[in-house]
Amino acid sequence: MTVDIRNRALQVIARCQRLACFSEDSGSTRRIFLSPPMRDCHHEIATWLEPLDVPVKVDAAGNLRAVYPAAESNAARLLIGSHLDTVPNSGAYDGVLGVILAIALIEELRGQRLPFAIEVVGFSEEEGVRFGAPFIGSRALVGRLDQELLDRRDAQQISVRQAIEDFGLNPAQIPQAELQTDTLGYLEFHIEQGPALENAGQPLGVVEAISGQSRLQFTFLGRANHAGTTPMHLRYDAIAAAAEWITAVERTARGVPDLVATVGSFEAKPGATNVVAAEARLTLDVRHRSDEVRARAVEDLTREADKVAQRRSLSLRHAYMLDEQTTAMDPFLVGQIGEAIEKTGCTPLHMVSGAGHDAMILAEKVPAAMIFLRTPGGISHDPAESVAVDDVEKAISCGVHLLDQLASSAQFQQGTHRA
Ligand code: GLV
Ligand code: MN
Ligand code: MN
Repeated sequence: MTVDIRNRALQVIARCQRLACFSEDSGSTRRIFLSPPMRDCHHEIATWLEPLDVPVKVDAAGNLRAVYPAAESNAARLLIGSHLDTVPNSGAYDGVLGVILAIALIEELRGQRLPFAIEVVGFSEEEGVRFGAPFIGSRALVGRLDQELLDRRDAQQISVRQAIEDFGLNPAQIPQAELQTDTLGYLEFHIEQGPALENAGQPLGVVEAISGQSRLQFTFLGRANHAGTTPMHLRYDAIAAAAEWITAVERTARGVPDLVATVGSFEAKPGATNVVAAEARLTLDVRHRSDEVRARAVEDLTREADKVAQRRSLSLRHAYMLDEQTTAMDPFLVGQIGEAIEKTGCTPLHMVSGAGHDAMILAEKVPAAMIFLRTPGGISHDPAESVAVDDVEKAISCGVHLLDQLASSAQFQQGTHRA
């Protein structure tokens, strides 16, 4: 490794930490879709791209877009990026690292132009924190930021459409954010967010597929009553019903290999110590690499929620917020990434991602692929999330080899590798 790449890796980490300061909360990082700190984040990134003569634009879905031109005008483009939004109390690397590594790869070119342009993309929304539905940014690129999603409201009853307008953008221009026919593919660097690379003793992995995921909202509706005067057998307690069901969710997932199911958010009304709860609202997140296993689990858990509600004479509502199938990454790009990782002196670990990523949305329209970086302790979605500088060096080095390989592949540039 050259000293230059070491410094570049240190700079990448420092930039990730810098962006973590742009937050809605003081003392921790939380940056949701089109919140004021997202604007600051865009401005900061623009200052890094300015010396490279790469202007930054924000499309109508709030995605940061910046094109490093090809050697010749009208050449096709390769997208490299990830997302800039975060979960509450997040770490500094989930998503952000992929955007900053894209910039680092352009810097590594030192002005050299490739046969294709590189478009850096910083997606506005991948986590689903503000509106419950994730991938708002990447859905715009594949033409799926539809009316239903635009009408979705956050906890303050602000719709996605309104949030876009409030940020000074025009929802009518969303179609212009869509991928053009000149897009050769999409690459995403991301921390693994799990323990597999660490267990294998490898810094980098190549993602072969991204697990499908279902996200739903369940509401148990009971009846509020006085906590001191209502005998236990006369209660219609929504929290007690929800609790019973949550344990069933955990039991079901533990009983099926590799199935994960999570109740990640819970809200009860009226929410007072001395009132039996009238309403309990929960989210359910279910993932598995087999769509069939995932669909069966959602069916079983929905039936179980119904049973719990009936047994307790409560009513139940449920609605889907997301249903994404398991998505294969582009075999040609997977092969190229494997080769590039080997050139860094490492053995690529072939993996299925349990986490969702923008690449699964982009893959609907263009060849997409991902490179994972080892995540110390497998810790993510937490401020303790980290990445080793050595591994970032390897990632930059892998990216440099990969761009080199793609720049000399007629098959890639002519798109003849596509299935
Ligand atoms: C993204 O972080 C996800 O929930 O997979
Ligand atoms: Mn995340
Ligand atoms: Mn992410």
